[in-house]
Formats: sequence, structure tokens, C-alpha cells
Amino acid sequence: MSKMHCKDIERIETDILLEGIFRRWGYDFRNYSRASLQRRLNLRMGLSKLNHLSEMLPKLLHDEEFFDQLLMDLSVTVTEMFRDPRFYAALRGQIASTLRTYPFIKIWHAGCATGEEVYSMAILLKEEGLYDRAHIYATDCNNHSLEIARQGVYALDSIQTYTGNYNAAGGGASFSDYYHAKYGSAKISDGLKKNITFAHHNLVTDGVFGEMNMIVCRNVLIYFDNTLQDRVLTLFCDSLCHRGFLCLGTKETIDFSSARDCFETVDGKQRIFRALARGTAARAVPRAVAPQAAGVCES
Ligand SMILES: C[S@@+](CC[C@H](N)C(=O)[O-])C[C@H]1O[C@@H](n2cnc3c(N)ncnc32)[C@H](O)[C@@H]1O
Repeated sequence: MSKMHCKDIERIETDILLEGIFRRWGYDFRNYSRASLQRRLNLRMGLSKLNHLSEMLPKLLHDEEFFDQLLMDLSVTVTEMFRDPRFYAALRGQIASTLRTYPFIKIWHAGCATGEEVYSMAILLKEEGLYDRAHIYATDCNNHSLEIARQGVYALDSIQTYTGNYNAAGGGASFSDYYHAKYGSAKISDGLKKNITFAHHNLVTDGVFGEMNMIVCRNVLIYFDNTLQDRVLTLFCDSLCHRGFLCLGTKETIDFSSARDCFETVDGKQRIFRALARGTAARAVPRAVAPQAAGVCES
């Protein structure tokens, strides 16, 4: 029998587990970047006192609670309000004036986790006088995170960091105007919630999402391999209305993607891009179908 390295066996076991998760539960992690995925699977294996990854397969197939736990392990939900304040400052300084020319603004936050960045956007829109003409669609594939996002209740301990971020992002009021403190928690004001819809959407398996004026998908693509990044960037290209904006995380890029030609760079450092005028882009961009009222696009 030929010898095989432990790492090679681990790769086979991981392939089988990911195939099992996909076929049993419909969640497709097969094109997530392997290093981070492997670490998380190994961690769960240790916590479950198992010796081999493949021992998780029967649990994954037959025990929904075990799968739910693993789903939580595999989706990294770290986030904060006004994360990377300079990004929000760039939105205020460079994008708000263009949004102001639209009578209606549709924004998609893809991979919104527990909602902190969505409420940050709502605050920014409010301060720029744009909230009442905006609708934010905030999606994630993790239902548990979405439920927390809908409630908008966060630990009071985090508020000091969020206040610092808000001020660094050029906040125009007092951050405490936007939440009510109660029993060690901070509850986001209801006024900020009225134009937000939280919904389940899986970037790997689900399709185009409306005709958006702006898509914000930050710190999600880093968990995907190049093939999956390509698929998702193409999905974004097809979900944006003409001259719509795309905002990625500071470690994410469109440079090596086949969707590169759909966009021009607005702010390279803050990873803000803009869809090129149709006909200018090398790739033909099919029109998407709006789920609700069509967003108004610049011609
Ligand atoms: C690190 S958080 C980023 C949260 C927020 N965008 C931010 O930058 O602070 C990554 C989020 O992406 C979500 N995610 C991972 N894979 C996804 C997929 N296939 N479809 C939708 N969301 C996904 C995870 O559930 C998680 O909430």
C-alpha cells in the first residue's frame, strides 16, 4: 500500500465532509478558502473529542443540532459598527453627493452578520439626509446572526469602541442618539430600522438580488477561493444598476477577477468601485429583476 501524508488524508476527509454538508443541508462550503475552513473543522473535531475528521460525517448527516453548531463554527461573524472608519468617511466624502441626486436609493449589504454595519449605514444615510429615500436589504446565510441583526441589541461593552469608530468616521451627532441603554445592552432606535429588510441569502447558491444602487459586501470574500470570489463578483455586477457602487473590505480586491472589467475604481484604498456604463464594460451585463420598487439609476 502506498504511503500518504496525514495532510493528504485530511484533505480527502475534508472534501467528503463538505460534500456531505452540501448534499444533506444545501450549504456549499466547497469553494471556501481551505486554510481557515480546515482550522475550524479541526477545532470542532477536538471539541467533540474525535480523532479523525471523517468521524464527524455520521454526526453531520444525522444530527441537525451538530450541523447547526458546525454552521456557526464555519461562518465567521466578527463585525462592529463603523468598522474601518475611513471607509465610512469615504462614503460621506465621495459617494453621498452622488446618492443625493437619486430620488430612491437601494442598498444591499451582503454578509451582514449581526447587523452592526447595516445600522452604521442607516446612521450615515440619516445624517446625510438620505435615509427616508433609501431602502437597505441586509442578507446573510446565517439565520442565527440575522435574528440578532433584526433585534439590534448589542452589548453595552462594545459601545465605547463603536463611539470611537463613529467619531473617526466623521459622525455628525452624538452616537448615543442612536441607541437606548438598558440592562447592560444597547438597543438600536426603532427609527433606524424602518427602512431595513433582513433576509436569508446565500452568496454561493442564490441568485441576483434586485437592481441595487450600492452593494456593500465587506470581509466576506476573504473566506472564498478565487473561483467563488469570481462567481460572487459576477453576481454583484449583475445585481447593480447602471453605475452602481460596490464596496468591499480593505483586504479584498477585484483585481484578479473576470468581473474586473465591469468596474472602475473610485477609491482603491477603501475598496470602493463603480459599475462601468453598459457598453463600456468588456463583459455584457444582463439586467436584473427588481424584487420591489426599481432603484433609480444614473444614465
Ligand atoms: C466576518 S463577517 C463580515 C460582517 C460584515 N460584513 C463586516 O464587514 O463587519 C462574514 C459574514 O459573511 C457571512 N457569509 C459567509 N458565507 C456566506 C455566504 N455564502 N452567503 C452569505 N453570507 C455569507 C457569514 O455568515 C458572516 O456573517
